[in-house]
Amino acid sequence: MSHGQRLKQALLGLAGTVVVTATLSLWGCGGNSVSVSDSTQAGAWVWALPANFPTPRVPADNPMSEAKVELGRFLFYDRRLSGNGTQACASCHHQDKAFTDGRALAKGSTGEMHPRNSQGLANVVYNTTLTWANPSLLSLEAQMQVPLFSEAPVELGLNDSNVNEVLNRVKTDARYAALFKAAFPGADQPVTWGNVTRAIATFQRTLISGNSRYDQFLQNKAQLTASEKRGLALFNSEKAECFHCHSGFNFNDQVVHASTQVTDTPFHNTGLYNIGGTGNFPAGNQGLFEITERLADRGKFRAQSLRNVEVTAPYMHDGSMATLEEVLDFYAAGGRNITSGPHAGDGRLNPNKSDLISRIDLTAQDKADLVAFLKTLTDHDFLTNPKLANPFAAP
Ligand code: HEC
Ligand code: HEC
Repeated sequence: MSHGQRLKQALLGLAGTVVVTATLSLWGCGGNSVSVSDSTQAGAWVWALPANFPTPRVPADNPMSEAKVELGRFLFYDRRLSGNGTQACASCHHQDKAFTDGRALAKGSTGEMHPRNSQGLANVVYNTTLTWANPSLLSLEAQMQVPLFSEAPVELGLNDSNVNEVLNRVKTDARYAALFKAAFPGADQPVTWGNVTRAIATFQRTLISGNSRYDQFLQNKAQLTASEKRGLALFNSEKAECFHCHSGFNFNDQVVHASTQVTDTPFHNTGLYNIGGTGNFPAGNQGLFEITERLADRGKFRAQSLRNVEVTAPYMHDGSMATLEEVLDFYAAGGRNITSGPHAGDGRLNPNKSDLISRIDLTAQDKADLVAFLKTLTDHDFLTNPKLANPFAAP
């Protein structure tokens, strides 16, 4: 086993522990309250949550702290964390785009193309599984090993030959010495990959978005227009069916929090492709199938949260839809019929398509109303909150 493989395994071991701990802490209490302590100790972390948001679940061996959040923020924005020094997490996750990157497909630090669209990170702490279609990535700590160490495709490009050098860039930086000491008090050598991972995960857990005009409307602090209200009603109707998969406070159907007892991890085929009528999606992008290898899982992906969807274009796992209008035309048709080119095939007839996706009679006004409603989910505070912004750019 190479050094890199051992390292990766050790890190995944760490993340594995996190997963187990999280599963065992089912007794952890939570509920709907505005501020909830993470532990009973003095000086404990206090969440600032919207009233209708549940308390997030946090791994027992990586408790929240202000110092860890601040360290994690620096690391998230630090390009020195990639092998060749060109990319940080933030290179593909921009705050003003709800932590997406505006590209159809992500591009790694060595120029290699990723087969998928960069995901938004708003409320990522509540996702049961992480990424577009991987039922085995259950913690932010575990997920992070992918952008750090993946070799196919390369994202940040850490490997056997550069991993020590990259950690040294952090170790020899005076600011980091102080930040790590504050975040991991008592540790002799706090600058480790395990602690880098813990700090970035802790920062990501603070990416909470719940102050959109829609949220203010729920709290009687803002009005929606007649068109937005019609869109909201349609969204929650059995006619349009959107709410089945984009449900609850986070507009998705894979949610975990402190008091979750049983987790459900549905993935759906929405009829985007049906290459040559075989049920296939483009090679290398077959969704859940890539992990389970079950034919019926071809084309199944996790329903994305729709919070801030106005600023996360282009859409879908492969960025193949440019606008929300295009997305609505697709749902109205009950799938996508591609008539020419290498991906030709009628997605409406995909044998794995969800029963909840079928032709919907939507007028042009209905579609405009739905788009207007989706745009009420934009949270401008979240997109501009200085606490989530690049600390290196701060005056
Ligand atoms: C090269 C661009 C790129 C870089 C760099 C990158 N990401 Fe991502 N990120 C993506 C893509 C693409 C996905 C979707 C991956 C998939 O579905 O396979 C993603 C998904 C995620 C997710 C899952 C979100 C969800 O809703 O499940 C998290 C969390 C995440 N990234 C965090 C990070 C962190 C932390 C870093 C830095 C250590 C990072 N990313 C670096 C492109 C990138
Ligand atoms: C059967 C479950 C299901 C239903 C019903 C459903 N969606 Fe989706 N939605 C998904 C899944 C899964 C994805 C991701 C698909 C992919 O990328 O392959 C998605 C993606 C989206 C996206 C793109 C999000 C992004 O960030 O790329 C939008 C917007 C959206 N849906 C809106 C709607 C609207 C509006 C409705 C009702 C007309 C609706 N959805 C009904 C499951 C569903």
